[in-house]
Order: sequence, then structure tokens, then C-alpha cells
Amino acid sequence: MINIGIIGYGYWGPNLVRNFAETPGATVAGVSDLDEKKLETLRRRYPAIKTTTDFQDLLRDPAIDAVAIATPVSTHFELGMAALKAGKHVWLEKPMTETSLQARKLIDEAEKRKRVLLVDHTFIYTGAIRKMGELIGSSELGRVYYYDSTRVNLGLFQRDVSVIADLAVHDFSILEFLLREHPVAVSASGINHFPGTPENLAYITLFYDSGTIAHANVNWMAPVKVRQILVGGSKKMIVYDDLQASEKVKVYDSGVNFTNDPAQIYQMRVGYRTGDMWAPKLDMTEALRVEGEHFLKCIENAEVPITGGMLGLRVVELIEAATSSMRGKGETVYIQRKEKIA
Ligand SMILES: NC(=O)c1ccc[n+]([C@@H]2O[C@H](COP(=O)([O-])OP(=O)(O)OC[C@H]3O[C@@H](n4cnc5c(N)ncnc54)[C@H](O)[C@@H]3O)[C@@H](O)[C@H]2O)c1
Repeated sequence: MINIGIIGYGYWGPNLVRNFAETPGATVAGVSDLDEKKLETLRRRYPAIKTTTDFQDLLRDPAIDAVAIATPVSTHFELGMAALKAGKHVWLEKPMTETSLQARKLIDEAEKRKRVLLVDHTFIYTGAIRKMGELIGSSELGRVYYYDSTRVNLGLFQRDVSVIADLAVHDFSILEFLLREHPVAVSASGINHFPGTPENLAYITLFYDSGTIAHANVNWMAPVKVRQILVGGSKKMIVYDDLQASEKVKVYDSGVNFTNDPAQIYQMRVGYRTGDMWAPKLDMTEALRVEGEHFLKCIENAEVPITGGMLGLRVVELIEAATSSMRGKGETVYIQRKEKIA
């Protein structure tokens, strides 16, 4: 049995408490939030869980093996480091940290202390993204030409992070997982429509050595909610609509063929292929449940999580690069990697 302490019981923390409370092999041993009223709500639902306004109480408790941190991004480094130094395994919410330097320090500390460090990039544990990973990994799509994501809705305006760190972060983690390749350059444009607040709209383009191009349109000021990703391959194409109750992923046997036949030089050299469409069966288990079980397994077997510190770091690096490009009105920012790709 792994005893878990959870720090932060705002919007996302309750999802962590519910999932860990229902996961065999885990017990929620304590929850901390600065706001006593939030803890009161928790106690009404889970009277057996200990609560505290001081997160150090959880770190000092020798019975707690792991800590999940669901507090604002600006606190992730300080709380994550304190938890690792107290010998706890750590589940850290996305994005991992404010800066890549902080992310590197957490990775080093976790390695030094042989603790599991998982960054909650929830999408990677959804049935839809796992299925897309299988389809791309088995070359069913052929060469990936492009990834095009629209992630827009009305709100929630964040006070501390831009729409890139709030929404594009999902695309960055999905891209790292699906393509197994890091972008070499980023260009982003974005704007804050309200002075003194972080950017609420951004268009981000990522360039890859293999020729794949990726684009994300993220916006907190859209009248409707859209969560759609297109992936275009040389053999097949995918449409993933996360808002559909069923058949979220559809695979189209569609494509374009070019001919280099000189005899056809004056004729149409492009042929369009539109074949069948099918919707693969997806595992509908809640992503947080899958992720929670994975976290426990990593602790038991001393394994590195699928969304470990390195993936978290790469996502933070992309946020930094995209933000720098955006502040330079879309200038290209080249990404230099300091370590070998795992
Ligand atoms: N994985 C996902 O899909 C997903 C979804 C939403 C939010 N998140 C992430 O979860 C984190 C929290 O986001 P949120 O929307 O729940 O924020 P929130 O502001 O609603 O909640 C944060 C809570 O942390 C508490 N807190 C702050 N400092 C604390 C401290 N030192 N000790 C104890 N409690 C403290 C606050 O009182 C607040 O209740 C962010 O990193 C966010 O990006 C992830």
C-alpha cells in the first residue's frame, strides 16, 4: 500500500484525491491546502483523510511515501524540491516548473535520491492518445506530414501563466509522445488583449528535422469549445475530437499521390485518394486512473514514468522557446538540446 499526500485542493486537486482514493494499492493519507474552507469541503466528503494548511506536515509524516502537487505553477519547484528532499516520490502537475533550469534541478534531485518523479501530462494516459501512438508507431499512417491542433474555449483566464503554458502544454506533451522526435525550431505569435495579463491567444508552429510540421491554435476567448487534432500521414489521416462522447478518434484512408512521370507533365500530376473511415475501439478508463496506477507501479518497481522528469523538462523548454518567439513577434527560435535524446 502506497500512502499519498496531496498538496493543493483547488480545481484539479479534487480529481487527484478522488482517483487515488479509488485506486487499489493507494491510500490518500493527507491533504494540504492554504485555504481552510477548501479543506472543510474535503472533510465532508472524505472524513477519514487528515487535513492541514501546512504542507510540511505531510512531508514530515514518515508514513507518507509519495506527494502529489496540484498548486499554481510558481510553487512547483519549491514544493517539489522540498518533497524530494524529504524522501518522497513526487507527482507534479503540468507544467513541471516555470523554468527549464528548475526542471533540471528537480530531475537531478530525484535521480540522486532514487525517487520517482512523474509530471502529470494527463492526455498521454487517455485511450485516444495511446491509440494514436500505436497507429503512428506501427507506421499505419505512413510518414507524418503534419499535426494541427485547435484548443479554444471561453476562459478560464489564468492570472499567472499564458495560454501557451495552460493549453499548448497539452500539444507539446502529445507531440513528444506521438512523434518521438523533438522540434528543432519554434515560431509563435500571440497577444494579450487586456493590459497586464498573460497572453490569452497564441498560434504556435513547430518545425522538425524529419519534415513534419506541427501547429497549435490556443485561445481563451472563443465563443465555443473546440478540442480537435488532425494528423496527416502519407498513408492515412486521423481526426481526434476530444469532445465527442464516442468515436473520438477517426482514421481516414485518405491521401494524395504525386506522379513524377514526365509523360504527364502537362496533366494533373496529383491524385486524391478517399477510402474508408473507421473509428478504433478506445480504452475509456479515466486517464487519471491509468496514470495513478502507472505511478504506483513505477514506485514499486523503481521505474521511470512515461511522463517522467525528462518529458516534463522538454515541455518546459518548448514553453520557453514559444514564449520567447511570441515576445519577438513570431521570430524563429532554434531549440538546442543539451543532452542526448532518451
Ligand atoms: N493535468 C491537467 O490536465 C490539469 C488540469 C488543470 C490544472 N492542472 C494543473 O494543476 C495545478 C493547479 O491548478 P488548479 O487549476 O487546480 O489551481 P487552483 O488555483 O484552482 O488550485 C491551487 C490550490 O493550491 C493551493 N495552494 C497554493 N499554494 C499552496 C501551498 N503552499 N500549500 C498548500 N496549498 C497551496 C491553493 O490554495 C489552491 O486551492 C496547475 O499546475 C495546473 O496547471 C492540470
